[in-house]
Amino acid sequence: MARCRCRWRSVLICVCTQCLLLVTLFLFAAVSVCLNMQENSEAQPVFKPKQRITSHFVAAGVLRNGTFGPFPETFWKRHDGDDGIWNRLQLSIDHRFNPILRPRVAERGLKRFGDSILKQSFSTYEVSPRENVDKLPKRIQEFVSHMQRRDYPVLLQPDACGARAKGEEEVPLLLLAIKSTEMNIKNRQAIRQTWGKVGWVAGQKTSGGAQVGGYVRRVFLLGREKFQELGVDMSALVKTESQLYGDILQWDFEDTFFNLTLKDVLFWSWFSRSCGQTRFVFKGDDDVFVNTAKMVTYLHGQLREPNVTMEDFMVGEVIGAALPNRVNKSKYFIPHTFYKGLYPTYAGGGGVVYSGLLTKRLHHMSKRVHLFPIDDVYVGMCMVRLNAFPIHHPAFLTFDFPGKEEDQQCSYHTILMVHKRSPNQVMELWSDLEKTEAQCRDVPLRVEGKNKH
Ligand SMILES: *[C@@H]1O[C@H](CO)[C@@H](O)[C@H](O)[C@H]1NC(C)=O
Ligand SMILES: *[C@@H]1O[C@H](CO)[C@@H](O)[C@H](O)[C@H]1NC(C)=O
Ligand SMILES: *[C@@H]1O[C@H](CO)[C@@H](O)[C@H](O)[C@H]1NC(C)=O
Ligand SMILES: *[C@@H]1O[C@H](CO)[C@@H](O)[C@H](O)[C@H]1NC(C)=O
Repeated sequence: MARCRCRWRSVLICVCTQCLLLVTLFLFAAVSVCLNMQENSEAQPVFKPKQRITSHFVAAGVLRNGTFGPFPETFWKRHDGDDGIWNRLQLSIDHRFNPILRPRVAERGLKRFGDSILKQSFSTYEVSPRENVDKLPKRIQEFVSHMQRRDYPVLLQPDACGARAKGEEEVPLLLLAIKSTEMNIKNRQAIRQTWGKVGWVAGQKTSGGAQVGGYVRRVFLLGREKFQELGVDMSALVKTESQLYGDILQWDFEDTFFNLTLKDVLFWSWFSRSCGQTRFVFKGDDDVFVNTAKMVTYLHGQLREPNVTMEDFMVGEVIGAALPNRVNKSKYFIPHTFYKGLYPTYAGGGGVVYSGLLTKRLHHMSKRVHLFPIDDVYVGMCMVRLNAFPIHHPAFLTFDFPGKEEDQQCSYHTILMVHKRSPNQVMELWSDLEKTEAQCRDVPLRVEGKNKH
């Protein structure tokens, strides 16, 4: 009996010693990790940033020169106290849809929620920071007071996915969606007669390869002009224009710079309903020039490219790790009390091309991203949350030709689009493009830094 008890005691000692050791080890590990974290969050960043631009989270994105944007100083530091209004509003929504914490509520969950989530985040937020809103510049205050609203009624719309030619025989390759205003009739007219012609568009002829082509459609995106400022009511004219050409999509909101984002959000929604299988969208300003034939050829090439996933496809002039404009006289001015941190990687809004598949994904994503006053930055914010990144292409010139490159022979045959050109220039350029077609037909698209030609 005594021997038995003794054996049990040694068994107990054997087991318990190991347990005790394990617990001690665990405690040691936990304490050292905690100490480490504290140390890091105070002074020693894990990744030493090259420049101290900001300590806020920066979405990974490749800069134009091929390097990565700066790393955030710390990963876990939060800035609840001093964030901008937009950041704080968005934070609760981003938490809710965090793809790491809640992988199941990722993209698929979006269709279920609608934009009620945005409204919710507003009502929970509105309690405290009212006083901050009153200190903002007037233009931003105006924006914030309408930020929740996006259900503006449609005033005019085409009877299909944009103006088209009769007897289309296949799915449209490209829809040209052009931001315009009631006043810019001249711009629209020039576009209709030149690069925005609808119907079958043949790609660039080359002396060797086969010629491709595709159906092109067109739609102009309009808000309403402020009647008091203009002195005349344009609506009757625009209505006539719509009956004549069937290419006007107009909503009942004021056509101001800070309302441009509404055109993206509402266009995506309309596209998802009306445009079926349309392959690509060109979205741009009404003061750009597009080489449509080259664009058709380029897009055909992308369709055949095995590396390109159409669900993610966006191409344009990519701007990486940009800081918001803090000059209060600028049209782009965003005070730090409204938005803190860098902008995500985005494609310049003068002219950008994306796939129809991506358009529908952007439509769903937009239901959980608060409106931002700068439209192309907003598109970038939605892209980051889709884990998609725009591709940079040097043939998109949203800041015009560099240096004297424009004067070189065939320069307009090397580009896909250029900003900005007046209606008269657009007409001239179009006829020049036709005149020089034979002579410049084999010129390739431009590459970064220098014109290949
Ligand atoms: C790339 O561009 C960024 C920002 O424009 C700059 O800070 C960085 O030094 C550049 N890197 C190289 C290798 O030129
Ligand atoms: C946007 O449009 C709405 C509706 O017309 C208008 O009330 C609001 O002032 C506009 N917002 C801005 C920032 O101009
Ligand atoms: C396609 O991807 C492969 C591997 O990533 C790369 O080597 C190749 O250059 C890519 N092709 C094109 C045309 O981008
Ligand atoms: C713009 O900034 C200047 C100097 O930074 C300041 O004096 C001025 O009051 C500001 N204007 C507005 C409208 O905030």
